[in-house]
Amino acid sequence: MKRQFKPRTRKLALLVHVLFGVAWIGFEVVVMLLALAGVTTEDPRVLHAAYVVLGEFGPALYFPFSFFTLVSGVVLSLGTHWGLVRHYWVVAKLAINLATLLGGNLAIAGLMRDAGQRVLGARIETLDASAVGSIQYSLLANAIVVTTLLVFATVLSYYKPWGKLRRARSAPTAAPSDVVARQGNRPPRPRQRQTTLVGGTPRGTP
Ligand code: HEM
Repeated sequence: MKRQFKPRTRKLALLVHVLFGVAWIGFEVVVMLLALAGVTTEDPRVLHAAYVVLGEFGPALYFPFSFFTLVSGVVLSLGTHWGLVRHYWVVAKLAINLATLLGGNLAIAGLMRDAGQRVLGARIETLDASAVGSIQYSLLANAIVVTTLLVFATVLSYYKPWGKLRRARSAPTAAPSDVVARQGNRPPRPRQRQTTLVGGTPRGTP
């Protein structure tokens, strides 16, 4: 069996992972609110501020949050009995993280930068939504999709649904009672000696 984290290391790895994951969701909610402000406001100063902030901070922060959530999640998976490709919920989170990391850094970050530059290049007094064009709707739609996916990833972390992948099921790494306990996110129960009655006398089998 592969070596797994000691309880203290596991707790620290979980803490680091949760901090990055939760920070990423918080960041994404702010992006969504700024994008919403950009779409709904009629005040040119609000429009200007929303896209300048998005253009300045969005691309710079998206990468570290998405990257370190992924790295800490992979480390946590490999250092615990969950494994990287042993349970459906972990594989689903891996797919969500990879998709949002690539999509966000390769496409959305560019849109944020573009929107910021467009408002910076216009005069505030005469600024209106047409300066940003259809990018504003792409930014809002992307922020809603990414936030929803991240919240879904968090829900998966707590409920741990769907059990094990087929190939992991055929290669047991723990006693059945442990597997059932782990699927329910409870610590495994200590094994008990089986007791059988032979001729009225209890006999224990290890
Ligand atoms: C997509 C962004 C992600 C978010 C928002 C997220 C969020 C979380 C949260 C909130 C927990 C704590 C659950 C608990 O305390 O029981 C957690 C645990 C965990 N996550 Fe993630 N995670 C993400 C990505 C990943 C990735 C990419 C992996 C691995 C490939 C991963 C693997 C794990 C594992 C193994 C645990 C430990 C569960 C346990 O020991 O109880 N996560 N995650």
